[in-house]
Amino acid sequence: MDKYCARSGSGVHAPEGRGSRSASFEARPNIALVKYWGVRDRDRALPYNSSLSVTLDRLRTRTTVRFASTLAADRVVINGAEATGGPREGVVLFLDRVRAMSGLLDRAEVESDNNFPTASGMASSASGFAALAGAASRAAGLKLSPRALSQLARYGSGSASRSVFGGFVEWRAGERADGSDCYARPLFGPEHWPELVDLVVLVRGAPRKEVRSKEAMQWTVATSPEYGRRLTEVPRRLAGIRTAIARRDPDRLFPLVMEECDSFRSVCETTRPSLDYLTVTSRAVLTEVRDFNRERGRPRAAYTHDAGAHVHVFTLRREASRLRARLARVPGVESTSFLRPGPAARPLGR
Ligand code: PMV
Repeated sequence: MDKYCARSGSGVHAPEGRGSRSASFEARPNIALVKYWGVRDRDRALPYNSSLSVTLDRLRTRTTVRFASTLAADRVVINGAEATGGPREGVVLFLDRVRAMSGLLDRAEVESDNNFPTASGMASSASGFAALAGAASRAAGLKLSPRALSQLARYGSGSASRSVFGGFVEWRAGERADGSDCYARPLFGPEHWPELVDLVVLVRGAPRKEVRSKEAMQWTVATSPEYGRRLTEVPRRLAGIRTAIARRDPDRLFPLVMEECDSFRSVCETTRPSLDYLTVTSRAVLTEVRDFNRERGRPRAAYTHDAGAHVHVFTLRREASRLRARLARVPGVESTSFLRPGPAARPLGR
């Protein structure tokens, strides 16, 4: 991952002129241990099931939003390039929501930088929309609590609601039709379990995502014969994963994380048209983790992946270098690096 960090800190400070207001915000991506996959109410961006994730350190999105009466249209620059089409549209719709909440009519300039690759299963949409929610709401003069920020962020990308908080985070699906009980909340801080590490395995030739998760998950809801069963199983797994993290219990956590990931992959693969996010290398990494556990005689690691080909392998510090050497040898693995639970999203500058 280090090679991506060289780009950090580039040009996110928009000058503030007369009649303009700006704010900058930083957020980290997260990796879900219990996946969000399926929306029950698109207008309110309400998920079918609660999810649980780990916010990651080192990777980050920094975003500056400047509203100005002199701008004729919204302008969006992501990693130094002018955004067009779908990515620009998503940001403009999000800005419209912030304008509606604040009463502000001005157009905005948005500048956003990631220090990691986008659209590759590394959840840039989570950090991206969490940072945008923070920067846009502050620039528009809204003073939102972290909970309210998580409720706003989910309109950009569901997983962004979780990136508002650091450490281990649960996004509660809620039950109310108006969505008032749907929000993310921190469960345990980043320092809760110092032994736990996330070994990120980047695979070569990971395809760029063709369909946004937001769309793809609705195909699953509509067509996967396994989706209904998944929904009945998730609450049990989520409760088990929450308890295992609370007790720092790898024997309980790791099998549940893999069971959950397998369930997610299975509903994706039985979607029509089928959603196949993994490469041959990703699958070989999963097999290697299963073999590692079998040989160690106990669950010492757990794989998980999002809608992309890279694999996150959770393990314990004392197992980490042995496992890393093993996974680095899998043909097609580009790099392996360690991440730890990271901090909450935060305002930058003033
Ligand atoms: O937040 P979205 O719309 O990018 O969807 C996220 C979907 C997964 O990453 C696969 C699961 C999750 O909970 O993060």
